[in-house]
Amino acid sequence: MRLDQDSFAQGYFKNAVYRHWDPYDIEGLEADKEKMIDFAPDEEKFDELRTAIARFGAGEEAVTEDLMPLGLVLEDINDQMFLSSQIYEEGKHTQFFDRYWREVINATAEELGYEVTQPTDQRYFNDHYIALFDKTEAAMENLLEDDSPRARTEAYCHYHLTVESVLAQTGYYGFTSAFSESGTDDVTDEDYPNAEGLVNGISKIRSDEGRHVGFGMQKVRGYVQSGEVDEDVVQETLQDLMPHVAGTFGDLTEGLNPMPLIEYSRDKLTRRIEIITDAEAEVPDVDELVKLNDSDEAAAAD
Ligand SMILES: [Fe+2]
Ligand SMILES: [Fe+2]
Repeated sequence: MRLDQDSFAQGYFKNAVYRHWDPYDIEGLEADKEKMIDFAPDEEKFDELRTAIARFGAGEEAVTEDLMPLGLVLEDINDQMFLSSQIYEEGKHTQFFDRYWREVINATAEELGYEVTQPTDQRYFNDHYIALFDKTEAAMENLLEDDSPRARTEAYCHYHLTVESVLAQTGYYGFTSAFSESGTDDVTDEDYPNAEGLVNGISKIRSDEGRHVGFGMQKVRGYVQSGEVDEDVVQETLQDLMPHVAGTFGDLTEGLNPMPLIEYSRDKLTRRIEIITDAEAEVPDVDELVKLNDSDEAAAAD
């Protein structure tokens, strides 16, 4: 047969097809807009919300654009099939955030009499955020020049382990905590309304990210456990990027409290490194990776 049904990549692809969802169909955005208008945050708090959403929307756009070099160097058909599903999903994530900006953010700004802005406005992106995504783009593009196990490990460490795993999963945990009953109450003292539209979309995205992170973990773990790449490469790459992750949350202090998010992200990073470096550890099964369970922090891809 052409395909290896027992490979993890083929199993991930099957899971992606089975769990398909439509970003144009996510419900609740109209209600989110009404609740946000009723809540009527002052302009500073509204700007902070816009900043968080702009960063995550731009992050999804960046990863959509930056994944292709990996698709060009992977040789295995099972891996390529999984990667094609990942690029498609990143496009859907980008679409959801764009839709949220149009239908909720700008509509709320208009109603409250605040400036209507673009999600690409440079005011929303701080230096740490820009550095993190510039380094990730460079690590991915480097594969076109140097397709070595070490370069691939560095690419996965930037893209799958830091941006998707630590940054995105932490951010989505923060959104879910602030705008729903689940997660932690520590990220804000404000009584933000439950934004079901936002949380519905983010839940789908987080679940997809569980698979993406799992793929990167499997690959990096393979290189480290086979001895092809020294675990120091993983440690050093992740340590270099972590200040940028913390810096991406660190200036959100208007209505949010970034400390629990920074702690959550460090905790995630530690567990990722354990799974990669401990010969006895295992990447969880794909059905576990896509599950969301904030109450015990077994959020996607633990
Ligand atoms: Fe994504
Ligand atoms: Fe992703």
